[in-house]
Amino acid sequence: MTSQNGNGNGNGNGKKRAADRTYDIVLFGATGFVGVLTAQYLAAHAPEGLRWAIAGRDTGKLERLREKLAADHPACAELPLVSADVADPKSLREMAGHARVVATTVGPYLTYGQELVAACAEAGTDYVDLTGEPEFVDLMYVRHDATARETGARLVHSCGFDSIPHDLGAYFTVRQLPEGVPLRVDGFVRTNATFSGGTFASALNQFARGPQMMAAARDRRRHEPRVVGRKAYAPPAAPRYAGEVGAWALPLPTIDPQVVQRSARALDRYGPDFRYRHYAAVKTLPFAVGGATAVGGLAAVAQVPPARRWLSSRLKPGDGPSEQRRARSWFSVRFVGEGGGKRVFTEVSGGDPGYDETAKMLGEAALCLAVDDLPPVAGQVTSAVAMGDALTARLQAAGIRFRVAAER
Ligand SMILES: NC(=O)c1ccc[n+]([C@@H]2O[C@H](COP(=O)([O-])OP(=O)(O)OC[C@H]3O[C@@H](n4cnc5c(N)ncnc54)[C@H](OP(=O)(O)O)[C@@H]3O)[C@@H](O)[C@H]2O)c1
Repeated sequence: MTSQNGNGNGNGNGKKRAADRTYDIVLFGATGFVGVLTAQYLAAHAPEGLRWAIAGRDTGKLERLREKLAADHPACAELPLVSADVADPKSLREMAGHARVVATTVGPYLTYGQELVAACAEAGTDYVDLTGEPEFVDLMYVRHDATARETGARLVHSCGFDSIPHDLGAYFTVRQLPEGVPLRVDGFVRTNATFSGGTFASALNQFARGPQMMAAARDRRRHEPRVVGRKAYAPPAAPRYAGEVGAWALPLPTIDPQVVQRSARALDRYGPDFRYRHYAAVKTLPFAVGGATAVGGLAAVAQVPPARRWLSSRLKPGDGPSEQRRARSWFSVRFVGEGGGKRVFTEVSGGDPGYDETAKMLGEAALCLAVDDLPPVAGQVTSAVAMGDALTARLQAAGIRFRVAAER
């Protein structure tokens, strides 16, 4: 792992609290769409002796989930259940106090996630989530980063398809390029996947909150220390035909470029002057225009509260794509990196991004924080900063491909 500066310097916590915590990992929101998939992933992949528990607000649902897990994994018959409700902050503090790592799928995070981040920061408990909400991440930075650095908690947001393939993919690409020189990396995302009720609700929430999102970003900039002697930026990109990947490239205003930029600010390995641009790659021009129009239309409709409520009711929390639909889904993020006279083409790819692979990423991120030897960082940190090499190796072993396609 390269040295890091500017973000996340803290006392770290590695394995030091094992003795005074009841659980290594608590999975909160285990009964939701991604929560169930993550519980199934942990049931199949948790190393022997790992002390983990499933948590949620409905004990009956947790019991039924435990029975389902035990049908395939008999050891899960004794899996502990933790009762916690977002509406009861004391229950969140108790849960955080008993765990070394809390992994949460309870979103939209701006609505349901704030108290849990506070509880984990105060208790020195590591935290991973699936948020793609920039406003939430910026608010949590301003309110809890300093406390987490003091207590040693690692607060790692966006540990699903947002933003692990992009963050670790950019990290992987940078490591194929020379050190100590200006670097340029472009990421191009392709997928055929569909989404769940929880994700749809989070997206609608975000579309409706442009001004608040910008205010939170401004507030963060006021609090965040500047990087001295290096530059790392992710400017808004313009649509273009990208001959290097043979596709139309549409700027993708997700949280991913912000995450990559934060990793680049924190890690010297990204060089003295790093730029990242983030795109959706679309094969044909009509498809590109159609996709941009549909997203623009959804964003416009989300500004009108009754229309937003109607849209929300179309896809309910807990709903999501079927197992058959997920089995046909795939994603690919291709990166083109340049610097020091070298050009490299890399790719991160896998199966259903939003659910099966997201559950795998969240599960592996929680296991990585609980089990692996990691750099001594604390505070709000990205996946690359907290777990870069170890999590990349875990995901590769779990079937997510990181490859160098070509270099010149
Ligand atoms: N980053 C990514 O790539 C990615 C991918 C997929 C999903 N996501 C995000 O992950 C989140 C979950 O998605 P999903 O599809 O799994 O949503 P979901 O099916 O609606 O699940 C939400 C979970 O939150 C729980 N919950 C709701 N209110 C609660 C409360 N007051 N106290 C405790 N628990 C509460 C629900 O519990 P009950 O079962 O009791 O209702 C359920 O377990 C969303 O924010 C979504 O945007 C991100």
